[in-house]
Amino acid sequence: MRVGFLGLGTVGQAVVRLLHEERERLAANGLALEPVRALVRDTARPRAVPAALELTADPARVLDAPDIDLVVEVMGGVEPATSYMLRALRAGRPVVTANKEAVAHRGKDLLEVAAEAGVPLRFEASVAGAIPIVRALKESLAGDRVTEIAGIVNGTSNYVLGLMEEGQDLEAAVRMARERGYAEPDPTRDLDGSDAACKLAILASIAFSARVRPEQVGTCGIQMVSREDLRWGREMGYRLKLLALARRTEAGIEAHVRPTFLPVSHPLAGVGGVTNALLVRGERCGDLVFQGPGAGGDATATAVVGDLLEIARRRLVPGAGALGAGAAEASATLGARVREGPYCTCRDQVEVVPPHRCVTAAYLHLEVADRPGVLAQVAGCLAAHQVSIAEALQKARGEGPVPVLFITHPSPWGALEAAVKEIAGLPVVARVAGLMAVLGR
Ligand SMILES: NC(=O)c1ccc[n+]([C@@H]2O[C@H](COP(=O)([O-])OP(=O)(O)OC[C@H]3O[C@@H](n4cnc5c(N)ncnc54)[C@H](OP(=O)(O)O)[C@@H]3O)[C@@H](O)[C@H]2O)c1
Repeated sequence: MRVGFLGLGTVGQAVVRLLHEERERLAANGLALEPVRALVRDTARPRAVPAALELTADPARVLDAPDIDLVVEVMGGVEPATSYMLRALRAGRPVVTANKEAVAHRGKDLLEVAAEAGVPLRFEASVAGAIPIVRALKESLAGDRVTEIAGIVNGTSNYVLGLMEEGQDLEAAVRMARERGYAEPDPTRDLDGSDAACKLAILASIAFSARVRPEQVGTCGIQMVSREDLRWGREMGYRLKLLALARRTEAGIEAHVRPTFLPVSHPLAGVGGVTNALLVRGERCGDLVFQGPGAGGDATATAVVGDLLEIARRRLVPGAGALGAGAAEASATLGARVREGPYCTCRDQVEVVPPHRCVTAAYLHLEVADRPGVLAQVAGCLAAHQVSIAEALQKARGEGPVPVLFITHPSPWGALEAAVKEIAGLPVVARVAGLMAVLGR
């Protein structure tokens, strides 16, 4: 089967190399996949791929060319990637993508068009790199009812938090992550939680069989986190992670991405570096933990190629599925061509709980005047919004503002934010230095 690429950057080149290096083994199993052509912006730029691959700046050379059977989309961004994928699917070409933004924002349209055209669309690489979580949720766990998914799905922010635990401040940690190749030149989407929100929207939609859109995910990044928060959290028996959490509750699906203190005994608390990890809780299967490289060309390429092979295998089984326009002839010689069934599993109508109603315990870090009665004023604001305090700690004494920490009992996030807004207006409060979620209280 002849493969056309939309994009040939880090992931695209790794996929081409993988297919090249494993070509004999794959061909021996009847799974010959030949990279033919790739759409790029700059055709003159040298690429670390076998020379036979043609580069083009014309999308039609991949999307409309009769010598392309399958399309791999690894260019990123919502547009024009989504339009190109829709065009390939309408033309009967299966598509494999690693693009979380396109799948999270436009997955519904993509899957509907794929179902209408009767061709597969696969996106394992769009979440958590090499970890086969999409297939696990869609297939292996389809018989159970998943009640919760908690994940560290952004390696860059996890790496930055690790450096901050070692004593770096946020700015220095981001700079070091960039120098070591673990952060993009502009890591905004990694640090502000929006990358993780796209991944959580995809995972929650599959796990709970109901569509969750990225804009419904309550999202807060690590920009407010200080190394002191990490140190004090540790002293209290917690580790801080940018946690993507979705759960089924009586009110509906709660989904949020927030800096979250996890008890050290939590299975995700010790996940360091750029590693991704997911904890899936099922009613019958209990807790399952998936862990591994969540990014990087070679690791992500394994997920892309896994999807390609799943599609290519249908060629070996008469009538086992759609193969796309270019492969239809081959399929006809093998037997009746059966259309791909709907791959979308978002069939249930379940409410997504608005972020302000999602319930969590919280850690609040304030800088306040060191005077009698200050804690009572802060406690009064929290109580006015029905937020009850589990612990209060003053971390220093002195003339200037001193840090005080509060751990609250679980409360709606909106109540916490409203209380914090009032607290920030108290004359005795110099600064609200941090508001984070706490799990396991
Ligand atoms: N990198 C990872 O570790 C990783 C992990 C999991 C998922 N992903 C996802 O995989 C996708 C690709 O990531 P990547 O890191 O490989 O990106 P990348 O290195 O920036 O490569 C993007 C490629 O797409 C091409 N491209 C972008 N916009 C284009 C346009 N409008 N027209 C034509 N070509 C265009 C670029 O062409 P030029 O080369 O000419 O600029 C480049 O070849 C993204 O959706 C990303 O989120 C990446």
